[in-house]
Amino acid sequence: MSSSTSPRTAALIPAAGAGSRLGLGPKAFLLLGGLTLLARSVAALAPQVDEVVVALPEGLELDVELPPGIRTVIGGATRQASVLALLRATDAEVVLIHDAARPFAPPEVIAAVKAAAWEMGAATAALPVADTLVRSEGDNWGQPITREGLWAVQTPQGFHRELLQHAHAEAEQSGIQATDDAGLVARLGRKVRLIPGDARAFKITTPGDWALAQALAAFWDKK
Ligand code: CTP
Ligand code: MG
Repeated sequence: MSSSTSPRTAALIPAAGAGSRLGLGPKAFLLLGGLTLLARSVAALAPQVDEVVVALPEGLELDVELPPGIRTVIGGATRQASVLALLRATDAEVVLIHDAARPFAPPEVIAAVKAAAWEMGAATAALPVADTLVRSEGDNWGQPITREGLWAVQTPQGFHRELLQHAHAEAEQSGIQATDDAGLVARLGRKVRLIPGDARAFKITTPGDWALAQALAAFWDKK
């Protein structure tokens, strides 16, 4: 793991989900080319941070083999609750939040998010939307939406830890549930820098994503 004069940085990996849309059990433990999604995500982040903390589903926390030095916490009922549990487990100055369900995060993207998070307080990997977008009306084509200026948000997302903790506290007080952390910071009126992400950092959500991930794993591991 890195040690330098840069701020102490933790990678926080929410891996406590049930994987209901994929339907193969908790995704973090699925084997892809001989490695679990969680092991792949940990391996991507660990070289660039001072510590790694993983949120695991309750009851599965004892069965997981992780490299030495990696700490675990028990996750919550939602992703947001799992991230909050992770935040409580570190005092690092900067935190990088990265979904275990995104096993192919390129090192350049992680490095760019980390640098921008330190500089700006909040940053996320994101991809400009490439497809035509339309809002449906029932099963039919409804209103088209211009894709100009639209980005699909990925992880890693990076923050000054205290800012993200503040955003989580505010969200809890207001009863807000979000699917990512940058959104919680943005709703406080704080700037979140968009860092060009990578198509390979896609989240494995559906059986189609799983098929793509299996195809990609062989190429990824030859790098
Ligand atoms: N996650 C978590 N705790 C939860 C829910 C999700 O730590 N209570 C994590 C997942 O393990 C995953 C990431 O958040 O790494 C993104 O969530 P998602 O892709 O929605 O995964 P799941 O919630 O497991 O899948 P599904 O929503 O299909 O059940
Ligand atoms: Mg989910």
